Formats: sequence, C-alpha cells, structure tokens
Amino acid sequence: MASQQDQPIVRMVQQHITSRPVSFHVPGHKNGTVFPASLTEWEKIFPYDLTEITGLDDLHEPEEGIAEAEHLAAEVFGAEKTWFLINGSTAGNLAMVMAAFSPGDQVLVQRDAHKSVMNAVKLAGVRPVFARPEIDETTQLSIGISREILVDAWARYPSLKGVIITSPSYEGWSSDIASLAEFVHSREGVLLVDEAHGAHFAASPQLPKEAIAQGADVVVQSAHKMLPALTMSAYLHVSGPRVSRERLSYYLQMLQSSSPSYLLLASLDAARHYVHTIQHKGWSAEQLCAQKQQLEAVIGSRLVQPPQHISADPLKWMVPVPEGYTGWEVQKALEQENIYSELAGSNYVLWTLPLTSEHIDIPLEAVKRVWAGLEPRDGDRAPAVSMSELFPRLSEGTGEEEPGGEEWILLESAEGRTAAAPLVPYPPGVPLWLEGECVDAGRIRYARGLLQNGGRLQGGRKEDNRFFVKVKHRKKG
Ligand SMILES: Cc1ncc(COP(=O)(O)O)c(C=O)c1O
Repeated sequence: MASQQDQPIVRMVQQHITSRPVSFHVPGHKNGTVFPASLTEWEKIFPYDLTEITGLDDLHEPEEGIAEAEHLAAEVFGAEKTWFLINGSTAGNLAMVMAAFSPGDQVLVQRDAHKSVMNAVKLAGVRPVFARPEIDETTQLSIGISREILVDAWARYPSLKGVIITSPSYEGWSSDIASLAEFVHSREGVLLVDEAHGAHFAASPQLPKEAIAQGADVVVQSAHKMLPALTMSAYLHVSGPRVSRERLSYYLQMLQSSSPSYLLLASLDAARHYVHTIQHKGWSAEQLCAQKQQLEAVIGSRLVQPPQHISADPLKWMVPVPEGYTGWEVQKALEQENIYSELAGSNYVLWTLPLTSEHIDIPLEAVKRVWAGLEPRDGDRAPAVSMSELFPRLSEGTGEEEPGGEEWILLESAEGRTAAAPLVPYPPGVPLWLEGECVDAGRIRYARGLLQNGGRLQGGRKEDNRFFVKVKHRKKG
C-alpha cells in the first residue's frame, strides 16, 4: 500500500508521460501534439490531460493508482472512505442526497444552502422541510443550524429521515456538528454536511474541526476552494453504517463524466499530499494574525468577527468597509487596484487566504490608496437585510410542481405570484426563492437592492435597465 509521501495519481500520470507514448486514442489533442495555436502557452499542460487507458486506472471502478490515492485521502481526511470528484461539490451534493434518501422521504434542509443542495433535493424527490439557520444579531449573518432547531423540527415533523446542513458558511463560520450528529443519530436520522468551504480543516487542530471527525455521515468538500487544487475538484467522504457506499458509487458514476480529467484527479492527489505535509510539519496562524493586524491598522478597524461561541476559519477575512459605503462599492474600488475579493456583502468584502500564507503579500499600499479615496459619507449604505426577514423558521417545501404556463414579468410586479424558477444571488449561490414559492415584497426588495448595488442574480433576465423574473400563470377562477 502506498505511503502518505506518495502521490499515486501524479506518479501514474508522470510515468505515462515520460514513457513517450504514441496516442491513437482520445482526447483529440494526442498528448498535446495537436492543439489550437491560441493555446500555445499551454503546451506543457496538454500531455497531462489523459484518459483511462491501460496503467491509468478508472475513476468509476478504481483498482490501481486512483484507488490508492482515494485510500490515502480517506486516511488524511479521517473518513472511512473517500471518493475523488471531478464535477465539484455540486456532483457530491447531488450524489449524497440521492444515495442517503428515497423519494418521498421528509428531510430537514438548511434554507441558506447552496443551489446544488436544492437541486439535489428536487432530483432525489425528497420532501424538504426548510429550516432558517440561527442569525448573528450583530452582523445579521447565518451562524448555522443549532440543536434547538433540530429539536423543534423533530417535534413538528417526527418522520424526518435526516438533515442536510451547510458548514462552514461562506464566511467560514462552523456549526457544532458533534452535537447535531448526536441528536440526529438518536432519532435514527442521517446527517449530511456540505462542507464545500472546509476541505483544509483537516490540516491543523487550529482550524475548525472537520465534519467527518464530528460524526457526520457523509461530507462533501470542494478541494478547489480552500486547497491548492484545480477548479471543479472535490472530495466526498463517508463514515459509519448509515449511508450505503454502493448507492454513493452508483449515483457518482451516474452524475459525473465518464471521461474524468486526470488534471483534476492529479490535483486532488496533490492537495491530499499538501494537507498531509502540513499535518506533519504543524501549522500556526501566527503569520496570518500578524498580516491581519497590519490590514486592520491600514483600514482603521477590526475585521468582522462571529459571536464568541462560533468556531471561525482564520483563512476567511471579512473586511469591513467605511461608513456610508456598501461592500459592493468597495469591491469595485479594490478591483480598480487589481485586487479581487471572493464576494461582497452589504457592509464587508470577503477575502479567502491560502493556508501557506508566506506565498501571499497583502497589498497594504493599494488598500491604503483605496481607503484614502473613499471620502467620509453619511450612513446611507444598504441596510443589512436579515435572513429572518426573508425566510420562516421552519417551512415545508412546495412539493410537486404544478402544471401550467409560465411568463416573464418585471421583478417589481412579482409580489404574490408563484415563482417558476429559482432566483439565485451569485455568489454565494443561495436561492432567494425556489420554484413554486410565493414571491413576497421583502424578497423583491432584497433582490432590487442587490441589483442596484451591482450584485448578480441567476435565474432572471436583464433587458435595458429592467429585470424580469419567471413566474407561473395566474390560476383561473
Ligand atoms: C456552500 C457551497 N456548496 C456547494 C458549492 C458548489 O461547489 P462546486 O463549485 O465545487 O461545485 C458551493 C459553491 O460555491 C458552495 O458555496
């Protein structure tokens, strides 16, 4: 069996390339000998873009290097079994929900979940009960699902088969998963965790604790978000007896490409090795803290913090913006200095930092220039809209889609109408409304505010300066 020092997929691919193979197989670029002139600079990458030929194993029936690499990853991430994913956490979320539940099962779903979870619920044919997360009073941001919410939910819906939560949040704030797992298992349910933003947690005890180590049954992590892996690469971990590994494999092969990219697979292997190396060397937040303090000195205020009892990811920096400005305005001002943030909120911009921060210089001088250019303004910035105004504490999903026609209407005219498609602010990708939900004035106001501030909304249509959304025809009579 390979050791943690090894990188079986990287090795396998490298060996293949150095053997100078002749390719009479797909892909069409023939190991990078045939490619468009516009991509000449990619010359070194193409040969690594291989397919499942002899010696390179098969993602969907792994027995060689891929099996070894997945085994090593399970060890590092503390799971009983790990799968490599080449279609992001999106594919992982779809597969875990379809594998864990059967059509008609009632399942509790955190309402501020990513759209891939909502799509999973729909494709799996489960009956969702949506739970609004707890909200931090100071920032009005989600602090995740609490045990109290679960207790309430099971009292109202005793036939719940399980729970799907998102932890950490986009901002890096984690739920107390051990307590949630203990409660859900006491009710014979399963706990699925979308940990898309927490793939690096296993690297150090100084980071929030990983969901799989706290008793979650299935966990999905985007390796590409917080680890140095290629975009679309992700892991799915399972532990315990509650979710069938066979069903997980079955849905993963159904949902993912039959021609997985070896670039992504090798980057997943290398990202596991990176985590292992940090586990061994040890990691300290000291340098990051010092850099954070320098930034705080430049902007003249402290970064936004979660409430004390919440475990927060030190690699997520919520940079507060000056009074009178919105996060979106400051995001644009930073972009003028070539500084790109992960997302903007009403009064902060979010930056994501790498684990090995010696590789990054915080552009303090440029930030200083941006802040100096923001003249003091009176407080007319967009009010932080609380999720408690947008979503009820517990609400049943709308269920079967109603037949009937659809039409595009102006956002402002949609109050009281039934949505015919989800409307999704992106990032973070949490649907503001779902298909079948009644559109209300609060959410229209929220969407309008986002558009005015330059936010992006998926699922609508822009024409000139007007924004249209898709709704069901009114019922007759
Ligand atoms: C919480 C959460 N889950 C899932 C996803 C989907 O991840 P991926 O882009 O790896 O498919 C995202 C993407 O932003 C996300 O934020």
